[in-house]
Amino acid sequence: MGDYSPEDWAVMNRQRAVYLAEERARQALELLLASRDAPTFGYLINNYEHCLQTATMLHSDGHDEDTIVTGLFHDAGFIICPENHGRFAADLLRPFVSEKNIWMLEHHEIFQRIHLHGFYQPEDPEFINAREQWRGHEYFDWTAQFIEHYDIVAINPNIESLSIEFFEPMVRRVFSGSPSVP
Ligand SMILES: [Fe+2]
Ligand SMILES: [Fe+2]
Repeated sequence: MGDYSPEDWAVMNRQRAVYLAEERARQALELLLASRDAPTFGYLINNYEHCLQTATMLHSDGHDEDTIVTGLFHDAGFIICPENHGRFAADLLRPFVSEKNIWMLEHHEIFQRIHLHGFYQPEDPEFINAREQWRGHEYFDWTAQFIEHYDIVAINPNIESLSIEFFEPMVRRVFSGSPSVP
């Protein structure tokens, strides 16, 4: 690599940019699809269906494409990177979605804890402080709202979610930097 000239790099980077413009969206969708048949681990729907349901609810409530696609991918790394799946989704979407949604992705796991009564003990400092340390932050309310209205409730087997094909054009627009606003 040390022998490549600036001109070589320019040619390679141009070629790669054309390829990535199409391919990033396609491979991100493939990543979601890879867990289509994953087990539910005791939930009523699996993680793939949960992601679709979150995106469907955001779409029904008239959120913009930036936010719908954020919801679609918010748990996309849950199988391959469970401990750090919020950061995983944030890094996947960082070039394409708003700062507000990136912050929400990075913090959604700790904001969720107050709802997981059977998992964390209320006296556990991690439980108490994890979310409260961020109170007053400009994206606190949106993150709390996302968790409450579009995450912890999106495990309902009686809701028919929109298909991945429905969201595909949206994903392509967001990944190309030209999302539509409702
Ligand atoms: Fe999550
Ligand atoms: Fe989730």
